[in-house]
Amino acid sequence: MTIRIDYTNMMAGAVSGGLAPEVWAEAAAAFAGARGVFTERRARGELGFIDLALDGSGIADLLSFADGAGQAFSDVVVLGIGGSALGPIALRSALRSTSWNALDDEAREYFPRLHVLENVDPVTVASVLGRVELGRTLFLVISKSGGTAETMAQYLIARGRLEAELGKEFKRHLVFLTDPARGALREIARNEGIAALEIPSNVGGRFSILSPVGLLPAALIGIDVRALLAGAADMFSRCDGDELASNPAAVFGTLQWMADSRLGLRNHIIMPYSDPLRDFGGWFVQLWAESLGKIKSDGTSVGPTPIPALGVTDQHSQVQLFMEGPRDKTVTFVAVGERAVDLEIPKLHGDIPELSYLGGHTLAELLDAERRATAAALSQRGRLNMTITLDSIDAHHVGGLIMLFEMATIYAGALYGINPLDQPGVELGKRYTYALMGRPDAVDARREWDAIPEPEQRWGV
Ligand code: PA5
Repeated sequence: MTIRIDYTNMMAGAVSGGLAPEVWAEAAAAFAGARGVFTERRARGELGFIDLALDGSGIADLLSFADGAGQAFSDVVVLGIGGSALGPIALRSALRSTSWNALDDEAREYFPRLHVLENVDPVTVASVLGRVELGRTLFLVISKSGGTAETMAQYLIARGRLEAELGKEFKRHLVFLTDPARGALREIARNEGIAALEIPSNVGGRFSILSPVGLLPAALIGIDVRALLAGAADMFSRCDGDELASNPAAVFGTLQWMADSRLGLRNHIIMPYSDPLRDFGGWFVQLWAESLGKIKSDGTSVGPTPIPALGVTDQHSQVQLFMEGPRDKTVTFVAVGERAVDLEIPKLHGDIPELSYLGGHTLAELLDAERRATAAALSQRGRLNMTITLDSIDAHHVGGLIMLFEMATIYAGALYGINPLDQPGVELGKRYTYALMGRPDAVDARREWDAIPEPEQRWGV
């Protein structure tokens, strides 16, 4: 596996206004501090996402379920939100199409369709439930806490329909993925004998993609989950070193943090030049935003704003802003060496120069030329950018990319001086939602809600 980071265009030598050598010289000392924090967290057992990659002990059960009972279904519907949905979506987009070919000659002949209900918009929920045949559908109810309002609402609707249509058989169509001990889902599973897999207690939602949260849906649609874990484990060994220069996660995390804290480049764009990696952007956005956007102990707010973009599509949209808008961004391109397929552009219209130059090239060449051209153009305008190149998009490389960003997030959290593993900022909104929806234990929240003064004048039109 090769995943390389080229950060030439982050530095002053290549880009005017880039990180100056004397600033970058401070990075090693800053990273040494971050590495210390990482080591303490690891020793306290807080970084369970690493163990997921290093210890594949649960994989055999998961695969035997996917290969056995899993094949009885034509559709799998994931019910979840946040980290419980974005991981399965990213894996499906990145790896599903190639898996069909890679596993062609293996025992499994049939893979179900995978739907992920990551929201509670009734239009989508009704449409997915209306499309699937319930008797041939498996619902994976994914919630680490086991009580998230959106996921529970999806579950109640799905269960209601299953019970109405299948009677006592309904249990065969439900698998819960939740905390080993806590939460309503765990209790229901225990009381009613519904199948339930464990999300380790030291693995939070946005770090759960390599737990059963991502791996079970992936295995059900034929993705090579062993290769995913092996890729992640290989990358972990590269990211587990003290030396900044040879540690890709340290380089990524430290550069982004320095660009933000020293140069005011607080918007971090992730821009894969690859349709299969489009949803990887959404997964990264949650990881970077929910982990790093925090109030520090001294009361100051920190955190970069991650922005997803797609090459080349966004060259005809956001790139104008990246080139000429406020100089407050870094762009991370994700390039792909070898694509699963390529198409040659035929040599037609030899007499029309606007078309004839394309003939004989391939679409992959065009995609890559546009990426290189955009990186160079941004650099010319003093816009900092870096490129992460994957040799190819397969389970091994995707596992590696996941671990690279997870480790970078932990290092960046230490550099910003915050806890990247919690999300206290989303709690208040949740409590008010409980109050508005009448949850019995939300009495205090209701009182707080009622005490919020009504604005004297409403400015709606
Ligand atoms: O990263 C996180 O912890 C969150 O984004 C959660 O994934 C999200 O809130 C869903 O939580 P749960 O899995 O407990 O339903």
